[in-house]
Amino acid sequence: MDRRERLIARARQGYRLAYGAEPSRFFAAPGRVNLIGEHVDYNDGFVLPCAIDREAIVALGPADKDAAVPLFEAVALDMGDMARARDSFDLASPIVPSENNWQNHVRGVVQALGRDGYRVKPARIAIAGDVPIGAGLSSSAAFGVAVALACSDYSELDLSAETLARVAQRAENDFVGCACGIMDQMASAASVADNALLLDCRSLQHMPIPIHPSLAITVIDTGLRRNLTESAFNERRAQCEAAAAHFGLTALRDLDFATLEAAQTSLDRTLYRRARHVVGEIERVEPVAVALTQGDTALLAEVMREAHLSLSADFEVSLPPIDRLAGLIGEALGDAGGVRLTGAGFGGCLVAVSTHDAGIAIDEAVARYNAAADLPARAETFRPVRGAAPIMLG
Ligand code: GLA
Repeated sequence: MDRRERLIARARQGYRLAYGAEPSRFFAAPGRVNLIGEHVDYNDGFVLPCAIDREAIVALGPADKDAAVPLFEAVALDMGDMARARDSFDLASPIVPSENNWQNHVRGVVQALGRDGYRVKPARIAIAGDVPIGAGLSSSAAFGVAVALACSDYSELDLSAETLARVAQRAENDFVGCACGIMDQMASAASVADNALLLDCRSLQHMPIPIHPSLAITVIDTGLRRNLTESAFNERRAQCEAAAAHFGLTALRDLDFATLEAAQTSLDRTLYRRARHVVGEIERVEPVAVALTQGDTALLAEVMREAHLSLSADFEVSLPPIDRLAGLIGEALGDAGGVRLTGAGFGGCLVAVSTHDAGIAIDEAVARYNAAADLPARAETFRPVRGAAPIMLG
């Protein structure tokens, strides 16, 4: 059995155990790693993520026919004991948030669909996933998009990737309480295999960017997790909005360096640095897209180094051990590839885009870091895969 077959088997078995019946359909939505364009999606900027071969899988079957009300039932297989791992809500009544975080990712999606006027059919689902949780690889976006796709397919709504992404994002914004942007959900919903996804977060226009076959994408998980990620994230977003408001703009995407520099004395120093990261980061997206297609590792090294420094010094979402690890890997790679913090930050992962051969240099740098680290880091190479889709079982 390969990785996906094992995951499908787990979802199927969980479904059987929870409901005493067989699921009839399966759906998958991947996690993602962002290559460049960090903390710019909620500033209406451009981003370049790619979906990875780790995913959330939903097994679905018809609702309980004997239920008195139209029930939507869910069981999550990675969320501890069966009691906390199950949820059930009435589709005919208002859907309210639950205390359990994962349940809100399901309830939020179903509510967002209903609010948009879509009729979600009662159903039973079981969800299994292998996107590492809390690592910055978008396990929650994969979860939300997989649930949205399952609802869309079973209820014959035929929703586009953009709508699936929007619905999953609203579930996080309104139900889970994270003011995340649209990047993760779009990467999970709309990616094309062997490509990164260049996304304009204002219009949602997107295009696949071929990843040169000489390049490998390695994620180095520092193992560091910070609990306050959501509140710190929401604070960064509020700071960006305040900086935009200072210039009378709706989003920092419309700010240029000259205008920012001219406001140095009137703008609060922290807001200035946040804005400087965003303006610079948006400019870095195009060169990375070009370097990715051409396999230009020297350019990747240069631009990703700048991007990491900006996240660390101006946006302040890195941590000292992460900076140390990024430094060691960057040094080991030289011109053979780039490395930087990926995702929201405050812990989590680095991403390296390098030649396949440079994997050894990355491993050596990680070993050097681990020799003096409290928590060992781990490097893993991922394949760029397609976005969310129903699974056709032969
Ligand atoms: C998290 C959010 C995204 C994005 C990134 C930072 O992953 O969910 O919307 O803002 O952080 O780039």
